Amino acid sequence: MSAESVKSGIAAVDEYLDTGYAKVVGMSSRFAAAVCCGLLRLQTDLGVKGPVAEIGTFEGRFFIALAHALADGEKALGIDLFDWPNPQVIDRFEANCAKHGVPEAKRITWRADSRTMKPEDLLAKLGGARVRLFHVDGEHSRHALTRDLELATTVLGEGGVIVLDDMLHPGYPTLMIAVQDYLQRHPEMVVLCIIDRETIVAATKFVICQAAWFKRYEEKLLEAFKDNVWPLGADFEPHWCLVLSLDTRLADIV
Ligand SMILES: C[S@@+](CC[C@H](N)C(=O)[O-])C[C@H]1O[C@@H](n2cnc3c(N)ncnc32)[C@H](O)[C@@H]1O
Repeated sequence: MSAESVKSGIAAVDEYLDTGYAKVVGMSSRFAAAVCCGLLRLQTDLGVKGPVAEIGTFEGRFFIALAHALADGEKALGIDLFDWPNPQVIDRFEANCAKHGVPEAKRITWRADSRTMKPEDLLAKLGGARVRLFHVDGEHSRHALTRDLELATTVLGEGGVIVLDDMLHPGYPTLMIAVQDYLQRHPEMVVLCIIDRETIVAATKFVICQAAWFKRYEEKLLEAFKDNVWPLGADFEPHWCLVLSLDTRLADIV
């Protein structure tokens, strides 16, 4: 199955995924964008409102998809140091947003360091609105992920979800330790689903949600992405969650 066949169900998102996504330099997979934007659609259906936020916006590839999935009046907050690989990255980000249909009124660009960011400052940027989807894709160290996860959890709204990039990636094995420690510190949070990698660059994402929302979201995701459900699921001992993949085969055992 190819990523092109997976749709978010939001016309503006799917148009961007078809015509713009691959042209914006970035590292997130198209498959993950379709699933996360599909999840934003499900949130809207369930009455979950609010902005989205991203640490590690880079040139805007994933950010633009999220922004297209928002309801009227909601905003997308893009946070980055905007200094890598050169200071012009912020200009490319702004140009990509303009080119791919995310007007200034719908987005907030914030050049900032998540290492020193206070939750109250982030909420002030959003006029006090709590976040419904937070994509964490900044510094890939255990310490930084721990800090970014706490920040995201503090500013999350009711029914909000946190999406973590580059999970289970061979280059960042210690990120899993940060996630396990986080889940132990926060029994009110669980992994909703694992979005399998497309390539080593466009790697696996985890989606984390409030435990009280797990069943509702799981049921809706199972229905919306039924062709992508890997039958065995993921074991977080004792919690089990969905695995969504472009490859749903099981091993041949006879
Ligand atoms: C892998 S790139 C993100 C890719 C992008 N989300 C996408 O989907 O294409 C990681 C980004 O995180 C940013 N970053 C790293 N550490 C950061 C920090 N402490 N605060 C804010 N941004 C940071 C980097 O500047 C870089 O642009």
